[in-house]
Amino acid sequence: MIRKRTLLAATLCVSAVALSGTFASGKDRLVELFDKIIHSNSSRELSEGQKIFRYDTFGSEAFWGGKLRIHDAIKGEKNGGVGPGVSPRTALSVGLKVDVDSLSKDVLDAIAQGKVDLDDPNTSLLLLKEDAIIGLKGFFNQNGQLSSVGIQCAFCHSTVDNSFAPGLGHRLDGWPNRDLNVGAIVNLSPDLSVVNDLLGVDDATTRKVILDWGPGKFDAELFLDGKAYRPDGKTAATLIPPAFGLAGVNLHTYTGWGSVTYWNAFVANLEMHGQGNFFDPRLDDPVKFPIAARAKMGHTQSSNDQITSKLAALHYYQLSIPAPAAPTNSYDQIMAGRGQLLFNEKAKCATCHTPPLYTEPGWDMHKGEEIGIDEFQALRSPDERYRTTPLKGLWAHAKGGYYHDGRFADLPAVVDHYNNHFSLGLLDNEKADLVEFLKSL
Ligand code: HEC
Ligand code: HEC
Repeated sequence: MIRKRTLLAATLCVSAVALSGTFASGKDRLVELFDKIIHSNSSRELSEGQKIFRYDTFGSEAFWGGKLRIHDAIKGEKNGGVGPGVSPRTALSVGLKVDVDSLSKDVLDAIAQGKVDLDDPNTSLLLLKEDAIIGLKGFFNQNGQLSSVGIQCAFCHSTVDNSFAPGLGHRLDGWPNRDLNVGAIVNLSPDLSVVNDLLGVDDATTRKVILDWGPGKFDAELFLDGKAYRPDGKTAATLIPPAFGLAGVNLHTYTGWGSVTYWNAFVANLEMHGQGNFFDPRLDDPVKFPIAARAKMGHTQSSNDQITSKLAALHYYQLSIPAPAAPTNSYDQIMAGRGQLLFNEKAKCATCHTPPLYTEPGWDMHKGEEIGIDEFQALRSPDERYRTTPLKGLWAHAKGGYYHDGRFADLPAVVDHYNNHFSLGLLDNEKADLVEFLKSL
C-alpha cells in the first residue's frame, strides 16, 4: 500500500517536472512566435485593407454597369454608348477626382503641356484605363471597349490634394469628397428602372430626388424608407462624413447604425450594390423601413459573396486612418488655448465630446431634443438617436457645413446654436475662442 503510494507520488513528480520543462521553453517559443504573427498580421491587414478601400468594387459593376449602364453614358454614342459621353471636364465638374500617382508619365506630361483634350470623352476612357479616376473602376473587354463600371469606397470617402491641378493630385483616404455630386453621376444613367421599381416611383421622380441631393451629399436611408425630403421640403440626404479618426468610436454613421464593420457590410451590399451577404432583421420593420422590408434587404444573400472575406482588412484599415492635424497657421493658437478651457468647462462640450476621442466612450447616442434639433433623421434609424460626432479633423471638411445635413454653415453657427440651446451665456470673445479651438482639432 505504502509502496504503491510512493511510486504514484514519484511518477506524478517526474511527470510534473517533465511537463513544466516543456511548458517553460514551449511557452516562450509560442509567445515569441505569436507576437511575430500579430505584427505580420497587422501589416498584412493594413495593406490589404488599403487596397480594398481604394480599389475593390465588391462586384458592384453588375449594378452600376450591368443595370444602370453608366459606362454607356461615359463612353457616349460615338463609342457605342449613349448620349454625348462624359468628358474629363464634366467628370471634374461633378466632383470626380484624378489620382496622379496612377497616371503614366506620358499622360502626365501631356496634361502638363496642355496636349490632352479635356472636352473629349475618349480622354475619360484613357483615365479609366489607367485606373486614375478615384472610386470609379472601368472594365474593358478584349477589344479595349469600356464594358462596365463599378464603384469603390474611395468614391465618396477619398479626395486629392489638388497638387497637380484642381481635382488632380495625390490621394487623401478618408477625407470626404464634398465636391462629389453622387446624384448627378447616377442621373447619367440611361436606365434607372431598377431604382424606380425599388422606390415605386416614376423615372422623373427618381431623377428629381437624386439631383436635389447636391454636391457632397448622399441619402443612405432613401433606399430603406423612401423618404426623400425632410418635413421642411429640403432634401433628406446627409453630408458624406469623413472616414478618418474613427478608432475608439463605438457607434458609426450620424445615427449610430452600428460599428464600422457593420456599416461596411451594409454599404457594400445595400448602397454600392456589391455582391455579398448581409443580415439585419431590424430592416424587416415594415413601418419604419417599408422598402427594405419589402425587398428583404436585411436577408441579402449571394452565391458569389465578394464582400464578407474583405470586411476584416477593410475594418482594420479604416481604424488606422488618423484624423489629419490642422495646419498650425490655420488657427490662432492663443485663442484656441482659451477655447479649450471653455470647451472643457463653461461650454460643457466635453461632457459629450470627451477628449481625446471627442465622442463618448460608451454608448455615444442622443435624442435630437438633447442637442436642440428635430428628430427627423434620428427617426430613420433603429435607435432613433444622433451619434455624438467625433470632432477631430473638423477643419478638413468645412465644405457643406456641419451637423448631419450641413444645417450650420460654419463653426460660429454651431457655437451660436449650442450657446442658445444650452443657455451657456458665452460672450462674443469666448465664442470666437471656442471656434479657434474647434479649428485646431
Ligand atoms: C455613395 C457614397 C458613399 C460610398 C460609395 C460609401 N460611403 Fe460610407 N458613407 C456615406 C454616407 C452618406 C455616410 C453617412 C450615412 C448616414 O449617417 O446615414 C457614410 C458613412 C460611413 C461611415 C461612418 C462614418 C462615421 O463617422 O461614423 C463609414 C465608416 C463609411 N461610410 C465607410 C465606407 C466604406 C468602407 C465604404 C466602402 C465599402 C463606403 N463607406 C462607401 C457615403 C458613402
Ligand atoms: C448632449 C451631447 C452634446 C453636447 C453637450 C455637445 N454636443 Fe456637439 N454634437 C452632439 C451630437 C449628437 C452631434 C451630431 C449632430 C448632427 O450630426 O446632427 C454633435 C455635433 C457637433 C458638431 C458637428 C460636427 C460635424 O462634423 O458636423 C460640432 C462642431 C459640435 N458638435 C461641437 C460642439 C461644441 C463646441 C459643444 C459645446 C458648446 C458641443 N458640441 C456640445 C452632441 C453634443
